[in-house]
Amino acid sequence: MIEKEIDPTRVPKHVAVIMDGNGRWATRQGLNRIEGHIQGYKTLRRIVEDASNLGVEVLTTYTFSTENWTRPKEEVDALMKLIVQAARAEIADMQELGVRLMVSGRIEELPDATREELLQDIEATKGNTKMILNLAINYGGRREIVDAARKIARRVAAGDFKPEDIDEHLFSQYLYSPELPDPDLLIRTANEMRISNFLLWEIAYSEIYVTKKLWPEFTKEDLIEAIIDYQGRTRKFGAVVEEKS
Ligand code: FPP
Repeated sequence: MIEKEIDPTRVPKHVAVIMDGNGRWATRQGLNRIEGHIQGYKTLRRIVEDASNLGVEVLTTYTFSTENWTRPKEEVDALMKLIVQAARAEIADMQELGVRLMVSGRIEELPDATREELLQDIEATKGNTKMILNLAINYGGRREIVDAARKIARRVAAGDFKPEDIDEHLFSQYLYSPELPDPDLLIRTANEMRISNFLLWEIAYSEIYVTKKLWPEFTKEDLIEAIIDYQGRTRKFGAVVEEKS
């Protein structure tokens, strides 16, 4: 019923999600943190399908940050293993749903098994057009900007263009996923009012929605609520927009 309230002509094209609260969810259930990540993965499976059905074109999820390496080895290993298992298990469903997998982050630094499984899925799904699932893995917003600066510096050093040629458009072409539009809506679960080094460049004008729900509890209804909230915002992009009287 609530679904009717979404204006289908104004669905955010790109939704980015900080999937926070797996650990807290597990602790509250008397489970270990890894169980929380497994439950978080189940939520992600549901939300990929729901987002696609609602007309979202790109879903970017913060799956493993550059800071996450500092977690206990057992948790890091479990997350890497979970990513491998998920990539293997979800390929058939991604093909059926028409979902194309992409990864933003320093993929070359991932353990071989994780990287290879992801690369296989990226290749196998590259023709899918219904929705892009962009997993931010070994991703850090500052590192992404530094990596772009390095690539640009190399081009300048090679004489391909001059420092004066660097503008926002050119710079953005050297980020991890230049083909994706900037997120319209950024959702963060677990009630944290932080950006946590996620998509620092790309969220310049994204609308932010924070929910108290922990990621493992996040449902289709919560996604719909976030989209309805987004549709009630006036996006100004720094300009003056007349309020309707
Ligand atoms: C944040 O919760 C979540 C993560 C750091 C990992 C996100 C991973 C998943 C949702 C599952 C894996 C996904 C795939 C594609 C296999 P937290 O651990 O920081 O929670 P806390 O703040 O309550 O401790």
